[in-house]
Amino acid sequence: MRETGLGGELLAWYDLHARGMPWRVMPADRAAGVQPDPYRIWMSEVMLQQTTVAAVKEYFLRFTNRWPTVSDLANAADADVMGEWAGLGYYARARNLLKCARVIAAEHGGVFPNTYDGLIALPGIGPYTASAISSIAYDLPETVLDGNVERVMSRLYDIHTPLPAAKPELMTHAVALTPQQRAGDYAQAVMDLGATICTPKSPACGICPWRDPCKARVAGTTAELPKKTPKKPKPTRYGIAYVARRADGAWLLETRPDKGLLGGMLGWPGSEWNEAPVEDDPISADWQTLNSEARHTFTHFHLILEIRTAVLPIEAKPARGDFMPAPQFRPSDLPTVMRKAYDLAAETLRHL
Ligand code: ADE
Repeated sequence: MRETGLGGELLAWYDLHARGMPWRVMPADRAAGVQPDPYRIWMSEVMLQQTTVAAVKEYFLRFTNRWPTVSDLANAADADVMGEWAGLGYYARARNLLKCARVIAAEHGGVFPNTYDGLIALPGIGPYTASAISSIAYDLPETVLDGNVERVMSRLYDIHTPLPAAKPELMTHAVALTPQQRAGDYAQAVMDLGATICTPKSPACGICPWRDPCKARVAGTTAELPKKTPKKPKPTRYGIAYVARRADGAWLLETRPDKGLLGGMLGWPGSEWNEAPVEDDPISADWQTLNSEARHTFTHFHLILEIRTAVLPIEAKPARGDFMPAPQFRPSDLPTVMRKAYDLAAETLRHL
């Protein structure tokens, strides 16, 4: 069953209230025949996973200015792409972004596939991203189900099954609502509705285009939806980061192995992250312990990093890491936890 009436009301709302975004073709331009660039839609959708629109905007602009086409990105050096991604988190996304760009350049002549099946076959593109590109870039009637859409559907149909178990049921409703026409505007409209009107706290039901059909509003259950299965509390892990400079000012850094947390990112040599910190310095030196720690929360645990600093002699030969000359080192290339360690350590190492 297709409930095109509801879709029509949402599209009419979107025509008036679509949010401007650097990658978005606004509904009036789309109606006039402007087609979105699938490269920009792909890039934005990968960045928007687990990340807010506000945080993504500047990264999106920097990436697309530096690499305007998928072929430009495919030709980029790994370290440059990982450095530009630093701070956005979930670094597997950046490694997959580059892998995907290289497959599109090498096997698809630099042209994005224009079908769901073609898209989902690419590295790093799962069902959500394939649906988002299919609908937003090509107007194919595919359905996106992100956190915003889950919240909107759970309220519209007053679904009390907790997430994530409710996903298939929510998807069924979302699919039934997806119109055959203007599927791209529609996908973005539901996400905008969730982000601006059907918000987690204090939704603006009074001005919602789906106010009348909303079952949770009628039942008075909006505030308690969507229900969520309680998450396990996060454990805390401990580690040590060794922030060292050579007497000529070069910094001792290492590129983390591709597999694992912060894979492929630049960082300070360090210990493993465990129940307690275990010393594992990259070179014997007069390490000084800072009296503050770098704290950071990852998806599955909190991390507390003790920080040791040292100045190393010119002839130092560390067992791990490479020296990077000071003019080459950009602290903005570091992932957030390593940047926090740098910010704390820089004070004591600045004199070099
Ligand atoms: N969140 C993820 N993708 C989005 C999009 N295309 N529009 C609005 N919010 C989004």
